[in-house]
Order: sequence, then structure tokens, then C-alpha cells
Amino acid sequence: MTGNTKPMKILFAASEAYPLIKTGGLGDVIYSLPRTLHQMGLDVRVILPAYRDILEFKPELKIAGWLEVQGAGHSHPVRILESHDERLGVPVLLADVADLFDRPGNPYTHPDGYDWPDNAERFTVFSRAVAQLATGTPDIGWRPDIVHTHDWQTGLIPAFLYHLKNAPPSIFTIHNLSYAGIFSHIEYTALGLPDEWWTSEGLEFHGNFSMLKAGLLYADHVNTVSPTYAKEILSSEFSNGFEGVLKSIRHKLSGLLNGIDQDIWNPKTDPDLVSNYSEKWQTFKGKQENKAALLKEMGIKPTAKKLQAPLLGLVSRLVEQKGIDLILDIIPELLKTTDANLVILGAGQDYFERVLTMLAKQHPQRIAFHSGYSESLAHRIEAGADLFLMPSRFEPCGLNQLYSLRYGTPPVVHKTGGLVDTVVDASEENIRNKTATGFVFDEPTPEALLTCVLRAIKIYNDKPTWRQIIHTGMRQDFSWTHSASEYAALYNNLLNTTKNG
Ligand code: ADP
Ligand code: GLC
Repeated sequence: MTGNTKPMKILFAASEAYPLIKTGGLGDVIYSLPRTLHQMGLDVRVILPAYRDILEFKPELKIAGWLEVQGAGHSHPVRILESHDERLGVPVLLADVADLFDRPGNPYTHPDGYDWPDNAERFTVFSRAVAQLATGTPDIGWRPDIVHTHDWQTGLIPAFLYHLKNAPPSIFTIHNLSYAGIFSHIEYTALGLPDEWWTSEGLEFHGNFSMLKAGLLYADHVNTVSPTYAKEILSSEFSNGFEGVLKSIRHKLSGLLNGIDQDIWNPKTDPDLVSNYSEKWQTFKGKQENKAALLKEMGIKPTAKKLQAPLLGLVSRLVEQKGIDLILDIIPELLKTTDANLVILGAGQDYFERVLTMLAKQHPQRIAFHSGYSESLAHRIEAGADLFLMPSRFEPCGLNQLYSLRYGTPPVVHKTGGLVDTVVDASEENIRNKTATGFVFDEPTPEALLTCVLRAIKIYNDKPTWRQIIHTGMRQDFSWTHSASEYAALYNNLLNTTKNG
């Protein structure tokens, strides 16, 4: 806030936002952070491409203006639509270019799973439109003081703004460095991006160009979504080739932990559950009803034995990052040496989907796999499982472990990124101090994961300790309050230190 003057105007530019369109945690953040900032009194708007899914969501829309934007070889008319639909929390703007965004599939891929071949053009056009809008074209009667961009799809926005007159300062948030928006020189030229940016100190990246790199270089501030990941990415192991660039921008790099929307993810009120519950022991019994219902829904008979056995849950994009291969590696041993059962919801790499489908077929009363994306099943797994698996090889922040803590489903996590910042291992000492909330293992290997899961299952059978871990986890505060104030301070600081503001 700027004292008793007008509230700061912040434009969030991103490629997804719940509930309009979501493929992962980015969508959750672009819903919950703007909403919290708005509640704190800032004037926040979100701009997204007008994907078909968003138009089918049918938010009330009005036309706010038109502009013309250069694409690959020709220009595109862009219609700016505006929605004040209550369901979205803050006003939402849409950059509507039917040729580029009105299609089936998700924001990045064809329904068959391959990347849209014109992604470079789609997100360059979006970025050009946002940069122009932020500098007054078209005039929609609202101009941001700061543009807050997210991930590679919006990485060109800071570069365009940097070279425009009277442009507001920008922030670039790295949600995931492993998606770098890399495209060819041919695409670069076709898009009419300036020759003078094509240098190794500029957008060029090993013979191609990277939209993420544009964001890193040109934003006035860069942050990532947890303090630990902010440190990790300065090492070659986690930098995805950007170590040098990241070190060179260290002076403007920080780590701010994500929060969650504690209303949407609330076991006390969650409409997707058969029984609502809280950490209070009287109502916590409701969790067992969710377990029975979940087993049934997933095709496993909820016998007394099954209800007593630990149920391991997983909700994830099925990609290498998430350590899915580690889970696949330990399944045979888990089935052999424990009575644990598994419920899995996920979509992603073909290979993982195929193996999981096969395992579920081979062990129909031990493993259930739902292939696809289902927001409501994700809630029911958080509530119905006893333990949540999240053995990510790296994790910028991670929201699922936060949801599972809140739902009384201790997470099993690899010691990396945001998982380090949010989960306290159930070591003997932490159990004694009553600070333990989950189970943490050091190395991303099947052996370490298996040892950790077996340790968790042992404690699952020690009910008083188990209850204490659940209770401590459920009482953690992962709301946005703290981090949103830090973002507001960052905006304020930028406004005071950049000339154009
Ligand atoms: P990431 O953003 O890397 O995927 P996060 O833990 O930050 O990881 O956020 C994942 C979000 O996506 C959570 O809200 C989770 O519930 C959701 N999610 C992931 N896969 C699915 C799926 N197949 N169905 C429903 N929700 C999913
Ligand atoms: C990314 C990261 C995840 C993070 C999410 C929201 O998708 O993989 O760790 O929680 O963005 O910031």
C-alpha cells in the first residue's frame, strides 16, 4: 500500500489461474495470491490468454479494447476482455486471439500430449499484448504500477517493458526452472524479436533462445517460490543450465514461500468430502469415513482390514520431477513386506501412465490408479489417504504437501526445495519436541524412499505418536498472509527505487 494515497495497481500475467484453467500449482497461486493481495487493499488484476476452456467456463465478459500485435510473419488483432465475475476473486483480463488460444487441450499441449507447435508465437503474442496494455494501449482506464510475471510463458514481458517508454517495473517469479521456454533461431527471427537481443548475455541460450532467460535478465526483481529453492538454483545440480545467469542476477533474486487458499483446502468445509473433519479428535473420526469412501470409489473393497492398513496417496503431474520412478521402484517391495495400499491420481508422461495402469490391473485390491485430471478426486485423496507421497527430485515449493498437512495426511517428502521449508521430519527428537509433521528422506533413491515409507508405516501403527504428528501438521499456518505482505513490500520497494514507476 502507498500510505493514504491510491492503492498500488498490480497486473499479474500468467498462463493459468484456478478456477478458469489449471494444470498444476501455478494455477493455484495465480488464484490465491492476487486474492490475498486484494483483501490487503491492493488493486490487483490478472491477465491470461483467452483459452477455449476459459471461454467455456463462461465468466461474464465485456470488451475492454483492441490492439494489434506482431506474431510470426503477420500481426494478430487482440481483443482485451474483462471480467468482474465474483468467482474469480479479482478482476480478470483476457487476451483473446482465437487463432492462437481457442483450441482444445491444455494451455501448452495438444489433447494428444505433444506441445503446440506454435507455442513460441502464442506466448510472444500474449507477452507483447500484456506489455502494450501495461503501457496504455489500448487504454482500458486502468494502468498497472507493477507487472508481476510468472514462468517462461510470460518471460518476454519484462524484456518488452524494459525497452518501452513509460513502462512500469516488472517482477518475474520462477515457479519452475526446468521449463525454460526454449525455441529456435528461426522462430526468433520469424517473430521479429530484435537482433541485438540475440547475444549470449541476452536471450540466446546454447544456439536457441529462452523466454525464461528474458524474464531473469530484464525483470527488475526475480524471485522463486521458496527460500531453499532460491539457494538451490545457484548450483549446477538445480539450475537447469542457468547457473551463470542466476549468479549474475543474485543481487535481485529472492525466495518467497507460497501459501495456500485455506478456504478451498479446508477439511472442515470441503464440499467434495463425504464427511468433514478437523484436528479435534471428536470430528477427526470423519477422516476414516473419507478413507472408506475413497477406497470404494477407487475400486478397493473397504473391508475392516483395508481400513486398518495404511493407505498411501499420490496426486501429481506424472513427470520425472515428481520422482514417480522412485515410487514405481518400491511398489513390489511395499506389496510384499507391508499391508499398505495405494491410490494414485495423475496425468502426464505416457510411460508412467502405462506402468501404473498395468500395476493397478495386476493388483486391483492393493493399487488403484485414476489416470487424468480431477480437482474433486484430488481433494478426496488428500482427505482419504493416511500418508501422502511426494518424493520429488526437486520441488520449487510444492502445494500438495501443504494440502496433505492440512488434511491430516502426513507427507513423505524428499529433502529438497519447498519441501524442506514446510515439512518437519518425524525424527525421535522432533517427535519428542512435538514439532514433527511428516517424513523426510535425504537422497532421491528408491532405497531411501522405501526406508522412509517403512519408518512412516511403523509410526502409523503407534497411534498416540501418529495422532500427535497429524495434530501438529493440521495446526500449521500456511496461509498467504505472511508471504503476501512480503510481496507487497517488494512492490513498494520497486516503485520507490525504479525511475519509471
Ligand atoms: P506442480 O505445480 O509442480 O504440479 P504443486 O504441488 O505445486 O506441484 O501443485 C500441484 C497442484 O496440481 C495441486 O493443486 C494438485 O492437487 C494439482 N494436481 C496435480 N495433478 C493433478 C491431477 N491429476 N488431478 C487433479 N489435480 C492435480
Ligand atoms: C511449480 C512448481 C511447484 C510450485 C508451483 C507453484 O509448478 O513445480 O513446486 O509449488 O509451481 O509455485
